[in-house]
Order: sequence, then C-alpha cells, then structure tokens
Amino acid sequence: MTHHRVMLLATTLAILAPFAGTGAIARDRPQAGRDASARAEATLRRMRGDEKTVLTHGIMPLPLGENAPAPPADAIAGAGYVPGLPRLGVPALRETDASLGVAYVFGLRKDGATALPSGLAMASSWNDALVEQGGRMIGGEAKAKGFNVLLAGGVNLMRDPRNGRNFEYLGEDPLLAGTLAGHAIRGIQSNNIISTIKHFALNGQETARKFVDSTISESAARESDLLAFRIGMEIGNPGSVMCAYNRVNGEQACASDRLLNRVLKRDWGYKGFVMSDWGAVPGLNAALKGLDQQSGEQLDTGVFFGDRLAAAAQSDPAYAARRDDMNRRILWAIYEHGLDRSPAGAGGAIDVQGNADVAQRVAEQGIVLLRNQHGALPLAASSRRIAVIGGYADTGVLSGAGSSQVQGQGGPALSIPLGGTGPWASFITQSYQRSVPLAAMKALAPQTDFRFRDGRYIADAVAQAKAADVAIVFATQWSTEGLDQPDLSLPNGQDALIDAVARANPNTIVVLETGGPVLMPWLDRTVAVVEAWYPGGRGGEAIASVLFGRTNPSGHLPITFPAGINQLPRRVVDGFDVLEPDFTGNPPHGDMVLKADYNIEGSDIGYRWNARQHLKALFPFGHGLSYTRFTTSALQMNGTRASVTVANTGDRDGATVAQLYLVSRNGKPGQRLVGYQRVDLARGGSQRVDFDIDPRLLADWADGGWSMPAGTYVFATGEDAETLGMPVSVRMAARRWIDAPLGQPVRQR
Ligand code: BGC
Repeated sequence: MTHHRVMLLATTLAILAPFAGTGAIARDRPQAGRDASARAEATLRRMRGDEKTVLTHGIMPLPLGENAPAPPADAIAGAGYVPGLPRLGVPALRETDASLGVAYVFGLRKDGATALPSGLAMASSWNDALVEQGGRMIGGEAKAKGFNVLLAGGVNLMRDPRNGRNFEYLGEDPLLAGTLAGHAIRGIQSNNIISTIKHFALNGQETARKFVDSTISESAARESDLLAFRIGMEIGNPGSVMCAYNRVNGEQACASDRLLNRVLKRDWGYKGFVMSDWGAVPGLNAALKGLDQQSGEQLDTGVFFGDRLAAAAQSDPAYAARRDDMNRRILWAIYEHGLDRSPAGAGGAIDVQGNADVAQRVAEQGIVLLRNQHGALPLAASSRRIAVIGGYADTGVLSGAGSSQVQGQGGPALSIPLGGTGPWASFITQSYQRSVPLAAMKALAPQTDFRFRDGRYIADAVAQAKAADVAIVFATQWSTEGLDQPDLSLPNGQDALIDAVARANPNTIVVLETGGPVLMPWLDRTVAVVEAWYPGGRGGEAIASVLFGRTNPSGHLPITFPAGINQLPRRVVDGFDVLEPDFTGNPPHGDMVLKADYNIEGSDIGYRWNARQHLKALFPFGHGLSYTRFTTSALQMNGTRASVTVANTGDRDGATVAQLYLVSRNGKPGQRLVGYQRVDLARGGSQRVDFDIDPRLLADWADGGWSMPAGTYVFATGEDAETLGMPVSVRMAARRWIDAPLGQPVRQR
C-alpha cells in the first residue's frame, strides 16, 4: 500500500470514528469472518491440483435438449449446480433463483413456492425489517428444498422505467435500494445459505443486454449504482457477487478488471466470490480480470474455468495464483455462511400458511395509494353494487416473468403465452398467481353485489359501470427479463377502457398491477388509483384489504412516475428501436456493441434528475397516501444528525415514512435522499425519528475517494421528493476519505 493510501485509510477511520455511536454497530459475527478465512486457507492447502477446478465452474442442471448429458444425481432442477469435494467436506452448491422466492423454472419444478411481491412492491414498504423477514422466509424455503445458494439481491438502480427487469429490483435510489437489498440478503443468509447480490454492475436495460456498453464516469458510478451495491454488501455480507451481462466502459462486466479486481476486491476488500451471470463469460481471460466462478457453462461458448483453467495454471503463475484465489474465495463464502455445517434440505418443513402471511404483509405494506379524491377509499362494506372490470381479477394476480418467476402450489392460475417459436418462446408467457382479488373482495363485503366483466368489450364494461355504485378497473402491464417496454402506456387498449368506464361512472377506482411506472391519461376522471405492482402469492387478499380499509395503505413510491417519456434522460431505451426483440440478448453479429450513455443523467437518477431538470413528476418518488393524516415537526439538525417528530393526527392507526433530503450544497441545488424511517403510529400517537446521515450521501466521488466540500448544506424533510418541509442549513467542514474494507464495523440502520 502506498504512503498516500495508508494516509487516506487512516483519515477514513478517523472520520468514521465519530459516527460509531448509536448508529454504528459491528457486523453480527466479526469472528466468523476470520474463522472462514483460516478454514478456507487450510482447505486450499489440502486440495490436490485436480480438485482446484471443481468449484470454479458449474452447469445449469436442467434437461437442455435431447443430446445434453443428464444432470448429476445429486443436482436439483434449478439455475445452477457446482459439484462439491466430499473428500474435503466441501458441499456441492445447489443454486436457485431469485429475489422474490424459489423460482418455478418454467414449470420444470412441480413444487410450488411462496411468491413475495415484486421488488418494487417490497421497496415501497420502506421497511427494512419486513424486507429482511421476507428474505428469511424465501431463504428458508430454498434451504428446505435442498438449495444452498439463492441468486437473490437484485439491486440494479432504475435508470429507465422501461427496463423489463425493474420489477425485480428495488427502485432508483442508492440508499433505499442498497439498504433494503442488504436486509433481504441478511434475511436469506440467516438460513446458512449463500445469497448473491446482482447484477454487478450497471445492468440498466434488457435490450441488447449482452452487448450494451454502459458508459459512465467513475464518479457517477460510485455515487449511484456502485453505492447501492456497497451499502447492500455492508449490511448483507453476501457470499457471492453475480457480475452482469452488459459491458461497462468497454469491458464485459464479468471480465472487468476495473469493476472486479479494482473496485470490488481491492478498494472494497471483498472476500467472497464473483460468479458469472449465465452465459456472460467471454473467455478464460476473465479469470485474470477477477471472475471466480463460471456459472451455467452450457450457455457460454466454452467451458473456460475447468480443464482450460487447469492447463493455464500449469504454465502460467498468474493463472495458478488466480486459481488458488478463486478456491479461497468460494471456500470463504461456504464457511462464512456455514453451508458445510448445515446441509441443504435440513431446513425442515415449509410453513406454507405462515410464509403466505409474510408475503401478504409485504404486499399490504407495498401497495401504494396514489390518488384518493373525497375519501373514495376505503370502500364501505355496505357498498351496494360494484362493477369489477378487467385484469383477470376473477382469476389471479399478475407476476413478472423470467428467471425470477415464482409460482405457488399447483402452478399459475393462468398462463398466457405471447406466441413465437424457438427454444425461448415459452419464456415469453404472462402468468397469474393463484390469489383472486374478486374472491377476496367478496369475502370482505359479503352483502355487496359484485359484477365482473373481463373488459374485452368496452360497451359491456361501460354498461356494468353505469349500473353500479362504484367501478373498479384492474389494469395490468406485464414485463419480463429479456425484454424492455417501448413506452409507459398500459397495453391492449386498457387506457381506452379505463377512460370509458370513468366517463360512465364518477366513482371509478383503478387498481394497477404493473412492473413499474405507467402514464395515466385518464387520471383526472378517476376518484382513486392504487398501485399494487405484482403483489405476489397473496396479492388478491392484500388488494382487497386495502380497498376495504382492513389495511391502511402505507406504501411510498421507491421510483418516480414520470409525466411523460419526454421527461426521461433518453427518448428510447438504447437499441430498442433498431434491434429485433431478442430475449437472449446476444448480438445479431459477433462484435456488435451498442452504447448506453449513462453520463446523461450520471448519478442523478429519477427524482434527482427531475430536480436537476426542474421537472414535475406524475407521482414523485416517496409519494404515498394514507387513510389517516400525519404531520412532521420542524427539522432539527446537528451536524450529520437530524431529528423530527411525526404525529398521526387523523382518526385511524397507520404508518408513514419520514424522509430526509439534502437539497443543496453551497447554493448549488442537488437533491438526495439521506435518511428514511417507516413509522407505525396509532391514531393520536407521535414518535421522534432520528437520522444519522451517511456522509457518502453528502459527498462527491473525486480522485479516488469521497470528498465533501466545506460550506453550507441545506436539508429538508419531505412527504415525497417534491413536497418538502422548511429547509434547514448546516455548516460542514471539508472531509476526504475512502471506504473502509468490507467486514470492518460499518454504519448500520
Ligand atoms: C439472469 C440471472 C439469473 C440467472 C440464472 C440469468 O439470465 O440474468 O439473474 O440468476 O439467469 O437463472
């Protein structure tokens, strides 16, 4: 380490020290980290040469065609399998997707699993503890089903609302997404299994996902997507990082010296292993760039990290050293998370009912009440006649598709293929989970006369709406891994349907089941809009509970709902208008590269972009209504500590989210979320909320470290990113520091 770096590190620790009060605690098992390193080293010493390329690559244990070899007997149908080393007591890695539960693998798995709501629904709860509980639940199911690696922890920031995978992730803000990802991972790994954090990094779109080059400055990357990963890793301590399909500044992410060797391993001191995404390894050379394990090798152009790695290690000391380091890292993760001490399958029976309750709680806290005119909601159980229209509300709730797709017992309630031919055609299927909003509403309002219409014929829906006291339109927007959306409209003429129904009945309520934000040209004609996202295995019950007031809505948007495409940093998702949709993301010809210029918005994603461009959202980041009212006291600030008192002044128990924003530095506007806290309050109740601001959220990344200019920093609380309280100015001294190595005591929420 150079003198300069030692100095920086010393300064960092000194700077972090004052923050080591109530808000900073050491990771739960600091001792485990040291033990795991020592044990990994000991096992590595006992490994024979031929054993050193066993853990370094794995297959997709699926029947991938007539001539493909059958997966080994101890593999389970799932995303990945890496054989173990029984002689050394090293277990095989049995890997399954993903962040929302144990994946269904296109119906190859016949056992159902509990489906959490989408990532955006989880993030809308702004509830660290609940997200951790969700992680513990799905991790427990993975374990009970025989898996010991869950390919979860999706934390790519929403740079474009048309990205087909936004539903899997946790929104647009590095603090919120990173913190929640960390808690999800911590919950998952509490089962003695490994979780990934993925997809490292800047995997911002699905179009051309294997050849799009995310171009971004170092500072913008460090202040946005990389910060989300780093926060998630500090809290969650994931055993593995999954690198991404895309390129970053010209390098393939899974062969990026800058991302893997420099940022992750050198700067952050990460001890775990980097696994590739499936079919993301360009060649053997990726080993030298920092990739530790080749996953799903049938999807790559060759098996690079088996015999070829062994041969290279024979002749080239650099490969030999890397091969040892790969094993050391994989072993570290296995020991750190106790995979050898607690075999997969030892998770006991699955508490199907209890787990469904967890999924329902997440859905209830994740549903966002976007609009509610004249107290239209909650509905009275005594409503006489309600027309329920569209969205297969009589059948189930929509889910997002791709590798993260989960299905409960019995599989989907309904599958609607989008057609096409070829091996991936069945991937392109919209499926509905077995939780029925209409039935759940009937259960809560047995006296009400519900009339359902599927919404295919507008005149029919209008006739029903006219004859009813209230009309509820269920509108859906399906999205999937592998494809982006062309725009933000509701597909299949649903906008026209809603508009016609709302003209026919002034009490029209819209329930949205969408992957991300949509435009609402009919908004002014409706009385209420509820964003239910993809609400998971108990979504129907959660929606009914919110509509009829059993649940007081408390979700807040973790993303911006733009007022139009013209507010976005780019007119179309890069490549969308020139390429044929291709789920695989492979380039149409060998060396094609497509550029996505993330320097346009830089680290100012979502609400930060809107603040910079003076744009008003359709619904801003942080927005969410309640059936009660809350007030927030004047903000008190003392350096990087802040406090407010939140009170429930309405007539129902409820919950809200206290949000703290940086508004400007030295007169230069620049908005950032710097603190949040979900608060549950009985009616009439109040609570003091303390924030301990992570200084990285006040800093810029410059010249290899974090840097806070001296001067005046202005803060404000916000009901959302656009509705801010009285600003408070604070003088701050100049500071400069670098991140401490992962595993050191860190600031925790
Ligand atoms: C996805 C990953 C997933 C992997 C294994 C890839 O296509 O990008 O998120 O974990 O497949 O199924």
